[in-house]
Amino acid sequence: MQLEMVDDYPDVVIACCGGGSNFAGITFPFIPDKIAGKNIRLVAVEPAACPTLTRGVFAYDYGDVAGMTPASMMYTLGHDFMPSGIHAGGLRYHGDSSLVSQLYHDGLIEAVAVMQNPTFEAAMLFAQTESIVPAPESAHAIRVAVDEALQAKKEGVSRTIVFNLSGHGFLDLGSYDMYLSGKTEDVALSDTELQESLKSLPRV
Ligand SMILES: Cc1ncc(COP(=O)(O)O)c(C=O)c1O
Repeated sequence: MQLEMVDDYPDVVIACCGGGSNFAGITFPFIPDKIAGKNIRLVAVEPAACPTLTRGVFAYDYGDVAGMTPASMMYTLGHDFMPSGIHAGGLRYHGDSSLVSQLYHDGLIEAVAVMQNPTFEAAMLFAQTESIVPAPESAHAIRVAVDEALQAKKEGVSRTIVFNLSGHGFLDLGSYDMYLSGKTEDVALSDTELQESLKSLPRV
């Protein structure tokens, strides 16, 4: 793989997590090493407005709002969960893939939830330093990659941090405009909303 070509191995691999596809794509190749005891961290990043892994329940649920799909075991906020209108639209899904969910349940991967404004702040830093405008979804991974780098700097250690830039943000310039105009809000899911939404879980 590419890291072998530069004779390196990650200390931490980070990706945003909506349903889990891009997270799985970049982290699953490292799972066998992780199971074998290798010291590597695999971190899924989700919005605080849709905190599926960090605050959801591990239960059978439907993959779709209408409840037409077979129920499968996953971390979920309830299939009729309606997230607030954050700008990372691709991270507003109520559940996570069964494989990602099981790995989280088994403690092989970590998850962290981040707020919207610090996410855009990291996206701006990335755009200004790398000349790539990231998608708001990808900016979630960038936020945590920046935090990991700052933490390593604070500890005075060198750390290989790999993250997945899952998409560009050219279709999201309106969202950047709102952020730069101070119109984006930091929203976290309330406990009341979560409990209400979990009532939609199927009885199995
Ligand atoms: C740019 C981008 N990144 C990440 C995601 C998250 O999806 P997944 O977790 O399934 O990879 C999406 C979803 O639409 C997306 O558009």
